[in-house]
Amino acid sequence: MTITGAARLAGVMGWPVSHSRSPVLHNFWLHEYGIDGAYVPLTVAPEAFERCLGALALLGFAGVNVTVPHKEAAYAAVDERDRLAERIGAVNTIVFNDDGRSHGSNTDAFGFVESLRTRVPGWFGAAGPAVVLGAGGAARAIVAALQDNGAPEIRIVNRTEERARGLVEEFGSPLSSIAWDERSAALDGAALVVNTTTLGMVGKPPLDLALDCLPRDAVVNDIVYAPMMTPLLTAAGARGNPVVDGLGMLLHQARPGFALWFGVEPEVTDRLRAAVMSD
Ligand code: ATR
Repeated sequence: MTITGAARLAGVMGWPVSHSRSPVLHNFWLHEYGIDGAYVPLTVAPEAFERCLGALALLGFAGVNVTVPHKEAAYAAVDERDRLAERIGAVNTIVFNDDGRSHGSNTDAFGFVESLRTRVPGWFGAAGPAVVLGAGGAARAIVAALQDNGAPEIRIVNRTEERARGLVEEFGSPLSSIAWDERSAALDGAALVVNTTTLGMVGKPPLDLALDCLPRDAVVNDIVYAPMMTPLLTAAGARGNPVVDGLGMLLHQARPGFALWFGVEPEVTDRLRAAVMSD
């Protein structure tokens, strides 16, 4: 597809940004749907974030994604934001309206739920207690999603328990915090386990978690996607638990932004998964 003078533009702001899979993902869709547009990596230092955001609006960008470490800065910088972004406290998708105002949203919760539903058809949040390992930015989006999907209990297990307690206080019912040392016992009777920590990622130690207490029909979701089959997912799959890898959340969270900027509802396909993984 040739990029003409009328091409629509979007990109991802990060620091660094070279590791981001978003350019491959969005440009795959642009090519797939024959859209006159481009999606570019934007290396933006933290101190320059607001100026760069203003410049992109002036340059006529349709919008941008925002990744580490700018999601909280984006939350503060946008002119308006939706309710879900307010609850999560972070913005990962920005649209520049025709009047130049910036609108921020957070699509991580959507990506998490869509990924689960795609990989485990029939999944529903109210099926039983959920255990969330970690209490960082990703955990906040997942907790919001689980609350909105009727989880009857959300157990937050984090190395720094104070941070877990902070989440419980902020999000309220049905959250509870459990000490990191009790993480294996916390799986008792759970219907879903989600790892939002960095453990299991390439270059990090594996997540040390005994699965004996976990019911065999519980869904195990790791949001780490490098590698795709983490030691947690391998162990869970070996005992028969349905497993969901982290690539799905990455791909599905990108759908709303693409639709808003380029006017086409994109699909997550096996070809897309292969293209993003082989990058
Ligand atoms: P993100 O925004 O991607 O969620 P983050 O805010 O840095 O990233 O959160 C990373 C999560 O991984 C945190 O829950 C962190 O636990 P702490 O709050 O105690 O820092 C967790 N984490 C990172 N390294 C860990 C380790 N070695 N053991 C246990 N948890 C770890």
